[in-house]
Amino acid sequence: MIKVAPSVLSADFTRFYDAIKMLEAAGADYIHCDVMDGMFVPNITFGPYMIRDMRKATKLTLDVHLMVQAPERYVEAFAEAGADIIVVHEEATTHLDRTLQMIRAAGKKCGVALNPHTPLSVLEYVLDGLDQVLLMSVNPGFGGQSFLPYSLDKARALKAMIDARGLDIDIEMDGGIGLHNVAEVAAAGVNVLVAGNAVFCAPDPAEVIRRLKLGK
Ligand code: DX5
Ligand code: ZN
Repeated sequence: MIKVAPSVLSADFTRFYDAIKMLEAAGADYIHCDVMDGMFVPNITFGPYMIRDMRKATKLTLDVHLMVQAPERYVEAFAEAGADIIVVHEEATTHLDRTLQMIRAAGKKCGVALNPHTPLSVLEYVLDGLDQVLLMSVNPGFGGQSFLPYSLDKARALKAMIDARGLDIDIEMDGGIGLHNVAEVAAAGVNVLVAGNAVFCAPDPAEVIRRLKLGK
């Protein structure tokens, strides 16, 4: 089963409520929330207050992608704000295991995100405790970038790693995903699709979400 996680990074920031209601009606599974700090990535978006208010507006799963240096400083704030899944970048936190423990202690699902160049080997010892791995298929910071084709090899390798251990971990891919490449991405083992521009720039976002979920 493929889940679709539209990224509100591509929404009109003055009309978030409308975007949330549109995504609910369109059958989105998660709302992907891209938190950027202007340090880990060269862009700035929003923080825990936005998640708090989104939480009031929807029951959909809030999938919070922290593109923040030293995310451990904010895990508690995002957990209290109402995030359901908290995803931190391996490259951004010195003590990844401790950061993951913080997320679990807060009662949230935990995920690790990897930049395109980061090898899967960094997951070796933490994989078993994860709910989700997010593979970046663009360099993080902006919506609307082109998909990096080698991400498909990485997804296949991650799927093999997860299956070899008999684990049940979602593989999420983020960046440059749309109807043009969904079939390949799904075939590579990805089961949570993040889509920003493909959903929000479409004339019929519900149709795009429906087709992404079908994986074709
Ligand atoms: C990029 C973000 C993505 C982005 C995806 O740094 O993490 O979630 O918004 O946008 P599209 O689907 O337009 O590449
Ligand atoms: Zn993201």
